[in-house]
Amino acid sequence: MGCSSFARRAMIPALRDCDGAELVAVASRSQDKADEVAGEFGCEGVAGYDALLSRDDVDAVYMPLPTGLHEQWCTEALRAGKHLLVEKSFAEGYASAERMLDVARENNLLVFENFQFQTHGQWAEIKRYMAGGELGDVHLVRSTFGFPPLPKDNFRWNKGLGGGALLDAGAYMAKVSQLLLGTGLEVLAASLQDDEETGVDKYGEAMFRNDAGQVAQVAFGFDYFYQCRVELLGTVGKLSTNRVFTAPPGFEPVLLVEKQGESEELTLPADNHFDNMWRWFASEVEAGNFAEHWDVLLDQARLLEEMRAKARA
Ligand SMILES: NC(=O)c1ccc[n+]([C@@H]2O[C@H](COP(=O)([O-])OP(=O)(O)OC[C@H]3O[C@@H](n4cnc5c(N)ncnc54)[C@H](OP(=O)(O)O)[C@@H]3O)[C@@H](O)[C@H]2O)c1
Repeated sequence: MGCSSFARRAMIPALRDCDGAELVAVASRSQDKADEVAGEFGCEGVAGYDALLSRDDVDAVYMPLPTGLHEQWCTEALRAGKHLLVEKSFAEGYASAERMLDVARENNLLVFENFQFQTHGQWAEIKRYMAGGELGDVHLVRSTFGFPPLPKDNFRWNKGLGGGALLDAGAYMAKVSQLLLGTGLEVLAASLQDDEETGVDKYGEAMFRNDAGQVAQVAFGFDYFYQCRVELLGTVGKLSTNRVFTAPPGFEPVLLVEKQGESEELTLPADNHFDNMWRWFASEVEAGNFAEHWDVLLDQARLLEEMRAKARA
């Protein structure tokens, strides 16, 4: 639903090639665009999102619309009985996430937020370092996701469409911190810097803590040099990653492990997290495994909302 540039570049090709699913149609607000993308990927082009939802041969919808349009279209898709793989950020706020998930519960449908990095092979290795004793006890997780400013006509600068760095790069920071430190994190501190021209937040920082006292420090935004990294700092060592959220197919990630007086670089195999994400989504639909994903979405929306509240306070 929506022929977005990221969908065309990454998610539609992966869906077309996924064993557990079949690409039926692409929808756009414009028939010409729908036809062009449909021609590229060998499926049907549909004008209008409603027309896509009224089809009986569609079981699930991938939604790369701007966050500000999610409540309307996720609700309509769920009422039409479609499972959803929705782009980050799922919701503009906690109350909006709750309203959408109420409809998912009523209709017993899966809603999945597309953080595909957690399906990349390097992620299992990072979690092993987090859990195991090789770094000693990990006290601190540091994450960054930043990129240079986008053109001002990009929806990420548009307040009415749910723009801003918090719901974009900041969403990865909330997600990665929860994946490593657990859900229910407390926001100790947060800061957001607004863009004067558009009024949306363009970069920010935050600090979270879990019940065990482990802390996450994060920095994110549109006004940085390109970086997407995670570091784990433990009592006897430190792990650094080089491209953790956006490793493209073919890219071999490198992990750097540093200990007192020694350091080692580990080059890991390339992986395709877009393919992995589709396979995971299809298998969760098949298994009827929905409730745990609803809870994950709510905790993500809560953490983002608390970051915003703390920063604004
Ligand atoms: N998971 C990831 O790694 C990843 C990476 C990049 C982006 N994303 C997410 O993917 C989504 C799309 O990002 P993108 O960079 O691909 O954006 P984009 O190219 O601007 O696409 C957004 C799409 O939304 C549709 N749309 C409907 N109403 C719109 C409106 N009023 N203004 C703008 N677009 C409207 C358009 O589709 P039609 O014109 O065809 O109707 C448009 O192509 C975002 O939610 C973003 O956060 C995720």
